[in-house]
Amino acid sequence: MTNRVGREYEAMRAHFLRAAADRGFTLDPAQEAPVERLSRLAGELAHPAWRLRRPPRHLYLWGPVGRGKSWLVDTFLDGLPTPRKRRLHFHDFFRRLHGGVARHADDHQGGAAVDRAVDELRGDCRVLVFDEFHAHDAGDAMLVARLFHTLLERRITLVTTSNYPPAGLMPNPLYHHLFEPTIRLIEERMDVLDVSGPEDFRRRSRPGHRPRFAQGARLDPGGEAAAGLVPPGPGEAGPVAAHHRELPARAVRDGLVWFGFEELCEGRTAVPDYLALAERFPTLVLDGVPPLTGASPEARQRFANLVDVCCDRDVRLLLIGTDPMAGLSPEAPLLRDLDRTASRLALLRGPETG
Ligand SMILES: Nc1ncnc2c1ncn2[C@@H]1O[C@H](COP(=O)(O)OP(=O)(O)OP(=O)(O)O)[C@@H](O)[C@H]1O
Ligand SMILES: [Mg+2]
Repeated sequence: MTNRVGREYEAMRAHFLRAAADRGFTLDPAQEAPVERLSRLAGELAHPAWRLRRPPRHLYLWGPVGRGKSWLVDTFLDGLPTPRKRRLHFHDFFRRLHGGVARHADDHQGGAAVDRAVDELRGDCRVLVFDEFHAHDAGDAMLVARLFHTLLERRITLVTTSNYPPAGLMPNPLYHHLFEPTIRLIEERMDVLDVSGPEDFRRRSRPGHRPRFAQGARLDPGGEAAAGLVPPGPGEAGPVAAHHRELPARAVRDGLVWFGFEELCEGRTAVPDYLALAERFPTLVLDGVPPLTGASPEARQRFANLVDVCCDRDVRLLLIGTDPMAGLSPEAPLLRDLDRTASRLALLRGPETG
């Protein structure tokens, strides 16, 4: 190890330990190997890009919910001295990728349009972090395949997190085979790290640290006043701008938007709409929340995506209605990524303690 590589490696290890201590925890044994590997990567990146024959190897961190994967990659990026780094959440990445592909579709044939869009997104980054990667949509299988193919060929190091081991991506048996070439590519070209500690850290109570998302709550109908909320008046309803369209809100106030579940989740809304709302409003209230067993499959999926976006963008989410997870068990194949939704909702104050 040259001095410089060794210094960056040691600096990153120390940065991880300090970041954990600042938050009042110690590394879980299952996080040791990723910390070691990410610190090595920081060392490898100490060389200027032109000195390296090829970029450092790509990493794929996977494990169950709440094991600290996002914390690991965010802390890594934070401690990395180069400005040539970028983190994108899965949903945001796809929103941008679809937009880029549409823009280049006139001038470039299918795959080439994807390559152009990917190159725009990576810019001059040496490290691209892609958080919470999953693949369910058969329609996206080709796009994701091309995306990985292109990214893994570029002079960039890709670091992804996922709840799925590569072989478990695209779990639907009807479509899984479509994804097998991409899985093989991931397994060959990325170092796969298992971050499966025993505990979902989100379920630990942590009085000292409350992100805005965790300041949200689940309320019974009528419990608004206790949470300091004034229900929408009749004149408050109106349209609110989302992604290329307007959505019918029950109220739009300074820093807060209020929707009915029916309008937001049963309506034909999509992730880019939630991202647009999250960019503008630090608080989102959703009333009329039913148990998800009673909602349509599309509404269940939209709700799960909404919770993902609010958690990732640290939006305070207030849910009014019935416990959405009531009657759902992780074994019930009602909802994809149900465990992720349940882990995030466990951060919200419930009506009992409210
Ligand atoms: N070793 C640890 N001990 C205690 N808390 C931790 C530890 N590592 C991370 N955390 C905290 O646990 C919470 C969940 O971590 P994080 O969001 O990184 O999980 P994740 O593995 O990305 O989950 P998901 O798969 O649901 O996205 C965060 O608040 C994080 O700061
Ligand atoms: Mg995560």
